[in-house]
Amino acid sequence: MDKIQIQNLDKEKIVGTYGRYDLAIDHGKGSRCVSVDGKEYIDFTSGIGVNCLGYCNDGWVKAVTEQLMKLQHCSNLFYSEPQVKVADALTKRTGMSKVFFGNSGAEANEASIKTARKYGTTTKGENCNKIISLVNSFHGRTIATITATGQDKYHKYFTPFLDGFKYCPANDLETLESLVDDDVCAIMMEMVQGEGGVLNLDADFVKAVADICAENDILFIADEVQTGIGRTGKFFAYEAFGIQPDIVSFAKGIGGGLPIGGALFGPKTCNVLQPGDHGTTYGGNPVAAAGAAYVLSVLDDEFLAEVTKKGEYIKAKLMECPKVKSVSGMGLMMGIEIEEGMVAGDVVKAALENGLMSLTAKDKIRLLPPLNISYEDIDAGLEILIKAIEG
Ligand SMILES: Cc1ncc(COP(=O)(O)O)c(C=O)c1O
Repeated sequence: MDKIQIQNLDKEKIVGTYGRYDLAIDHGKGSRCVSVDGKEYIDFTSGIGVNCLGYCNDGWVKAVTEQLMKLQHCSNLFYSEPQVKVADALTKRTGMSKVFFGNSGAEANEASIKTARKYGTTTKGENCNKIISLVNSFHGRTIATITATGQDKYHKYFTPFLDGFKYCPANDLETLESLVDDDVCAIMMEMVQGEGGVLNLDADFVKAVADICAENDILFIADEVQTGIGRTGKFFAYEAFGIQPDIVSFAKGIGGGLPIGGALFGPKTCNVLQPGDHGTTYGGNPVAAAGAAYVLSVLDDEFLAEVTKKGEYIKAKLMECPKVKSVSGMGLMMGIEIEEGMVAGDVVKAALENGLMSLTAKDKIRLLPPLNISYEDIDAGLEILIKAIEG
């Protein structure tokens, strides 16, 4: 099919929940992909933070295809080696105790929310089921996770939403303290608010919240769906804040392109969920888990240091552009604030026409390039992006 045929059939047959860019991708390798009409693009999106090793990484393809030839699925009624290998790698890496596997970020947070509510109500009484999340956060699209999401624009059409969520502006400790009471079982946040505009939380705020949680036996949930698995130059972004959450949700990058996510639980929470409390047919699927095990094997300290270096390199280059006001984020998760009056979406479209895929987050241009992107592709992509910003 050519692009027009694909676009027409898409419009006719697929529910229009996404505004798509004018590009139909056919194949890719590394940080570059090729459209159905044969044009090459540099990818600064990684499929929204998913293809962390780029397109069709050789080692990842080998791990996934070998598993695919062996066993594609067996359900969670049976044991499977790929799943335990990923759980072992994740817990060893983080010091967390156990993992629950799902298939997406929303499911990872859903598992976290259910665990927090069960923990609160069973240890402190039936009213201890309230969760504080941050204004401008994003936690997913299920009813529970859009309720947790602290953005009014998501809180319409699908009423009734869940009771039991309170919202605190990011970095506002005074308000947070005023919201904490005996009914709060958890406080949930992204270390860098991704969809909310790549906004970094203050280290002092995060540390103070972690202290409040520890003192009051409230669970700290870190939503690391976008920030996790090396994206920020740390394995999980919370490490940069010197805290240890009770629950860490993850997805996106861990599968390297296949759907897998989940929640890591610390000592307080690792045995809260019992048989029958939660589950999903596909969670920790062997093929997705084999890909995840490969991704985790690549992300050693040296690799993560490179992520930080590349992020700093990109930031320095962008800051040379007079129309760039600031660059937020950490590692290879970046938000570019451009001159007032300029529209991020227009810049992203102009860059796409010239062969660079990038993203927006609120009024910023957002970059989530593959974590192993080469300096050559960084330079080539930045040249296109900076031209698009300069107009
Ligand atoms: C921080 C965060 N949490 C949760 C989600 C939801 O993940 P998914 O789209 O895989 O359900 C996202 C997606 O962008 C996210 O950025």
